Parts: sequence; C-alpha cells; structure tokens
Amino acid sequence: MGPAAGWTQETTGTEVAEAFKSNIKGKTILITGVSPISLGESTALAIARHGPTKLLLASRTELKMAEVADKIAKINPNVKVELIVVDLSSQTDIRTAARKVFHLTDRLDVLINNAAVVTSARSETLEGIELQFGTNHIGHHLLTSLLTPLLLAGAEASGTRGTTRIVNVSSMGYRLSPIRFHDYNFEGKPIPPEEEPPKGIPAHMKPDVAAGRPYYGFTAYGQSKTANILHAVALKERLSSKGVQAFAVHPGSIWTDLSRNLSDDDRKIIEGTSTFWKNQDQGCATTLAAAFDPDLCDAKEAYLSDCHLVDVAGYAKDQAIAERLWQLSEKLTEGKANL
Ligand SMILES: NC(=O)c1ccc[n+]([C@@H]2O[C@H](COP(=O)([O-])OP(=O)(O)OC[C@H]3O[C@@H](n4cnc5c(N)ncnc54)[C@H](OP(=O)(O)O)[C@@H]3O)[C@@H](O)[C@H]2O)c1
Repeated sequence: MGPAAGWTQETTGTEVAEAFKSNIKGKTILITGVSPISLGESTALAIARHGPTKLLLASRTELKMAEVADKIAKINPNVKVELIVVDLSSQTDIRTAARKVFHLTDRLDVLINNAAVVTSARSETLEGIELQFGTNHIGHHLLTSLLTPLLLAGAEASGTRGTTRIVNVSSMGYRLSPIRFHDYNFEGKPIPPEEEPPKGIPAHMKPDVAAGRPYYGFTAYGQSKTANILHAVALKERLSSKGVQAFAVHPGSIWTDLSRNLSDDDRKIIEGTSTFWKNQDQGCATTLAAAFDPDLCDAKEAYLSDCHLVDVAGYAKDQAIAERLWQLSEKLTEGKANL
C-alpha cells in the first residue's frame, strides 16, 4: 500500500511531492495556467523543490509567469524554467506555443493541463467556439495532440510504463452538465434529454431557452470540465499501451482568481458549494498524486479527488461518449498536426 492510502482533503501538495520526490527528479514537466495565487503556482512550487530538470510554464500573462519563475528560482535555482506565452482561446497561438516547446525540449514526462476560465456571460474563442469549452477543453485537446510526440519520446526514454503522464485539472463542477453534442456552443438549439443538466440541478442553474436564456455560465463550465475527464478517458485508451497514462482531477474548493469573471450572484453560489476550503498547497495535492503516484501506473480509472481514484457519472466515463467528443474536438481543431 502506497502513501496515498492515508491522504485526505487536508493533504498538501508539499507532502505529496515529498512522498514522490524520486519520481519528480530529472523530469521535464509542462504546466498550463500559471499565475500567483493560483493552483498552477502551487503545483509548480511543490514540484520545483525536488529537482525536475526543466519546468515549462505555459500561460496567458508573461508578467504573472515571471513572478512565479522568481519564486521557483528562490526555492531551487538549479531548475531550468522556460516561459511560454500562450492564449489557449486561440488555436493559432497554441500551434505557435507547441512549436516553441519543440525547440525547448526533445521530451516531456508530465503535461499538466491546468488552465481554465469560468464566466457568467457568454463569449467565444477566436474560432467562434463558446469560450469555456473552447479554452478549457478544445485548447488543451489541441495542445496535448501537438505535444504527444514529446510525451511518447518521454515514455520511451523512461522505460517504465505509465510514469509519463497527462493530467487534466477538471472539477466536481462536471456534475452540472454532460457534453451537449447538439448544442455545445449554446446557441439555443434543441438537445436530447441525455444532454440536459442532470436531474436535481435547480431551474435557476441551467439554461432556459423558452425564457430567453440559452446560456448559463456554470452549465458551460460544467460541460468543459466533463470534457476534461472524457479527454483523459480517450487519451488513456489511445496512449496507455504506448506507456503514457492520463488522468483528470478535482482539486477541491480553493479561493483563487478563478471567480474573477463571475457575476455577484454566481460568486455567491460558489460560496455555498463547499464546507471545506483548501488552501493553495492543499489544492495542488491531487494533481501531484495523479502526476507522480507510482501506484497509478496501470490504473484503468481516470478521475481522482483528494488524491484517490473515485467514480464519476456515466456521461463522464463512457468510452463511446469519450470517442464522440474526441471526434468533435478533432473537427474543431482541423489541421492540428500542422506544426
Ligand atoms: N479554485 C477552485 O476552487 C477550483 C475548483 C475546481 C477546479 N478548479 C480547476 O483548477 C484549475 C486551476 O484553477 P485556479 O483555481 O488556479 O484558477 P485561476 O487562479 O483563475 O488560474 C487559472 C490560470 O489559467 C490561466 N488562463 C486562463 N485563461 C487562459 C487562456 N485563455 N490561455 C492561457 N492561460 C489561461 C490564467 O492566466 P491569467 O491569470 O494570466 O489570466 C491562470 O494562470 C482550473 O482548471 C479550474 O477549473 C479550481
């Protein structure tokens, strides 16, 4: 039985990284969404203490990444840190960023898809995809596809199956919506009952086309976070035989900058969603367990919460739905292989 057996919601990323430090040493790790007072920061700092060869930080705002890089340099000046400015809501930007990653490294051992937005008002990516689905899932789908050759190189070099990992930072908020294949863009198109928010979600917390409200921000966030889990399911299916494992995690409830684009009403809803608020260090513990726990090398399940594998609703783990989302994502990122 590994150290994870005793871990709880209070376990910190510092503890998890300490327990798996031999799996961090020498690794090349890319983390998306890195800003001060965010989970990207606490993830990067916990990893940096244990001698990764290279940390690639990929995020939207260079100044914020530089602030985190300064903290890393204070913790461990030997870690090589590279900053990659990328807007995950622009597929052109993602392709440029991937090209940069190929110039900076010939292998990746761990890819942590952590960046996300949550908004109350509907907007779109540069390609016209609803912003939360387009950034949180489609952006990471494209980035992951472009970087897969580097992950396969990492798996080949490591020689230990399943230690090369992709970790999608999802959320328990996935419970707010399955993938709306018939209206993923929230344009008010009719959807079948299985694509509606699950039973039990109150009427004010879902779209209501008849009442002139085809968009509800948390439903769109929920769809994007379901997509993060299904993406891990599809990646596991495609890559585990080649030595690369994939997981999705719920980090817990943590006050970060995530709520910055929410209306006052929606921020109040968030305040009522948890009885236990983690600090930043506790908030990165599950991501680090998914990235480095050797007991997970052969895991068939894809989703972790509080450092443990846990079950999810059928619509977030069904192989056929994961494949259908994969095909939609490929369509929406046409030309992905054109680095
Ligand atoms: N906090 C929670 O309670 C909670 C709960 C469940 C799940 N999560 C998940 O945890 C992850 C981290 O969230 P967080 O709480 O740390 O939120 P956060 O403080 O808002 O951090 C999000 C990060 O993503 C970056 N980002 C946003 N849009 C981007 C874009 N278009 N392109 C590139 N980078 C972008 C942000 O960069 P800028 O700062 O430069 O904009 C920031 O670094 C997310 O996946 C979130 O869904 C969080």
